[in-house]
Amino acid sequence: MTTDIKIIKPDDWHVHFREDEMLKVVTKYSSRVNRRCIAMPNTSNLITSSDQAVSYKKLIESNSHSKNFEALIPCYLTESLNIDDFTYALQNNIFVGGKLYPTNATTNSQHGVNDIKKIYNIFEILEKENSILLIHGELNRNNIDIFDREKYFIDEELFQIRNTFKDLKIVLEHVSSEYGVDFVNSNNNIAGTITPHHMLLTKDDVFKDKQINPHHYCMPVVKNESDLLSLRRAACFENNKFFIGTDSAPHQAKDKIQHDSLKAGIFSSPCSLELYASIFEEENALENLEKFSSINGPKFYGLDINNDFLTLNKEEMIVPEYTEEGNIKVKNFFAGKKIDWKVS
Ligand code: DOR
Ligand code: ZN
Repeated sequence: MTTDIKIIKPDDWHVHFREDEMLKVVTKYSSRVNRRCIAMPNTSNLITSSDQAVSYKKLIESNSHSKNFEALIPCYLTESLNIDDFTYALQNNIFVGGKLYPTNATTNSQHGVNDIKKIYNIFEILEKENSILLIHGELNRNNIDIFDREKYFIDEELFQIRNTFKDLKIVLEHVSSEYGVDFVNSNNNIAGTITPHHMLLTKDDVFKDKQINPHHYCMPVVKNESDLLSLRRAACFENNKFFIGTDSAPHQAKDKIQHDSLKAGIFSSPCSLELYASIFEEENALENLEKFSSINGPKFYGLDINNDFLTLNKEEMIVPEYTEEGNIKVKNFFAGKKIDWKVS
């Protein structure tokens, strides 16, 4: 039996650090196990300029508990972006890419992009600068069923983006369906991040007997068993196209239980690497964990692979119910449950 695994230190290509007191509380969990994290720009004050990116990066890094931890910031794309500043920031590695939030797809996406054609000029710049387009791939329009939003986005928007900008590197974030996995696998210059929760939950864990479990509610919503299995195959076996993106997204517990304005997001960073390890173990694929956690991501982003290491031990860990400090109280994903791996 494997009792410990030594891997190249991972990176998390999709995390929400938020702002203020929440940022101070949650940053240590991601910096504990990762060398680099992409810090999503859908903060309450959206990150749309180079100045904001510089100060947000500093803020996160100064709250990290690890000395060479690095936060990478993508630009929140809007139809009214300052193109000169955006180009300057890409050329000077201030922005790691641009993040597309279609309007009303998720938290703080009300200022996202309504007519995606209107930002094709931005995609052209990303392609020219050999940078990355990160996409929240869901269309929330025309009464599209919540479970079909990813498929509609792929059919109505992504297909065309892919065919128009053939050299543009795209990351389809938090792939949630078999349809999404198949799209990533069958196109060039596109990769996908996969969360632990999309490989552990199905829609029955969220919607049951007309009740919603708010702590399992996230965007994209988790789907069917067949989707979960397809994501597990993609992460554990398929190829070089998938890597870690936890989408760890903390909300105050009190905001998660207000059904009239339910916040989408699952906070997994206190145990995400341990969860990935247990999923890979269940799939008999522990030998492939390092590719998913530490190699595929930097290769796709064109960055160096980390040169430090981390060890996971076969050791029981019970996830605490809450992350609680000062005025912050966030429900942890997998709360109260046992995981068989622990970062040493
Ligand atoms: O569930 C989610 N929460 N999905 C996202 O895409 C955003 C995130 C958040 O910021 O709360
Ligand atoms: Zn996210």
